Amino acid sequence: MSASSSPVLYEARHISKNYGNVVALDDVSLTVRAGEVIGLVGDNGAGKSTLVKALSGAHQPDAGELLLDGEERRWRSPHDALEAGIETLYQDSGLAPNLSISANMFLGREIMKKGILGKLGFLASKRMNTVAHEELDRVGIGVPKSDRTVTELSGGQRQAVAIGRAVTWARKVIILDEPTNHLGARQSKEVLDVIREAKVRGLGVVFISHTLPHVLEVTDRVVVLRLGKVVRNAPTSEFDAESLLGTITGLLRSEDA
Ligand SMILES: Nc1ncnc2c1ncn2[C@@H]1O[C@H](COP(=O)(O)OP(=O)(O)OP(=O)(O)O)[C@@H](O)[C@H]1O
Ligand SMILES: [Mg+2]
Repeated sequence: MSASSSPVLYEARHISKNYGNVVALDDVSLTVRAGEVIGLVGDNGAGKSTLVKALSGAHQPDAGELLLDGEERRWRSPHDALEAGIETLYQDSGLAPNLSISANMFLGREIMKKGILGKLGFLASKRMNTVAHEELDRVGIGVPKSDRTVTELSGGQRQAVAIGRAVTWARKVIILDEPTNHLGARQSKEVLDVIREAKVRGLGVVFISHTLPHVLEVTDRVVVLRLGKVVRNAPTSEFDAESLLGTITGLLRSEDA
């Protein structure tokens, strides 16, 4: 079954969000199907991260609805969205720098050992180290030993851990806000492979990037935002590098669009 005919997993309808006088999102709608990779693109300030925050429960939109598996949902916090199977990698990655890789992998989902009389639980660190390493390995992300703290990692390695965490836990949708930022060519390729694998697993993926060749390479459909509005939502096959750039900047003549 091709992604364009698979069931809709997640849907945003008519989302608007203002920050004071700034209209960050104006009546934005988006659907993500199972096994579909959506590219969300637009210039700096177009509203991409604001939409991510609405999709992930990090903030409440001023207007609009979110539907997961066809049911209207309202996230009171990012935790609600996580519980529902939606994993988000924020633009500013959100790792706890003083914790180890594995502690970050399990943040909020720690494995507890049964304590004395089954009452006092404590963290099963060894187990978490092993599982963290296995999971990162499984999604194709090579990182150093999982008991290393995040402060000891390079920017690219931190990014890899954050992506690994999101992909490991996602059950329905994974939202990646500029995941290849700070990454070299080889690691960027790894991230694109991770996205392809998430697709094969039937997850819906929202991929945000300013690197248009990556968007053209890995997505099924592209949604272009400009000044908070969707200006184009079309299959990736309808774009080439030039027309995508032109649509983003608004410099494409309308008869070419
Ligand atoms: N917390 C905030 N307070 C006030 N204005 C904000 C806030 N967050 C975003 N904005 C404004 O909302 C608009 C959309 O910003 P957003 O971060 O969603 O853009 P973006 O498309 O993610 O850009 P970039 O590519 O630079 O990450 C911008 O005009 C921005 O200045
Ligand atoms: Mg952003």
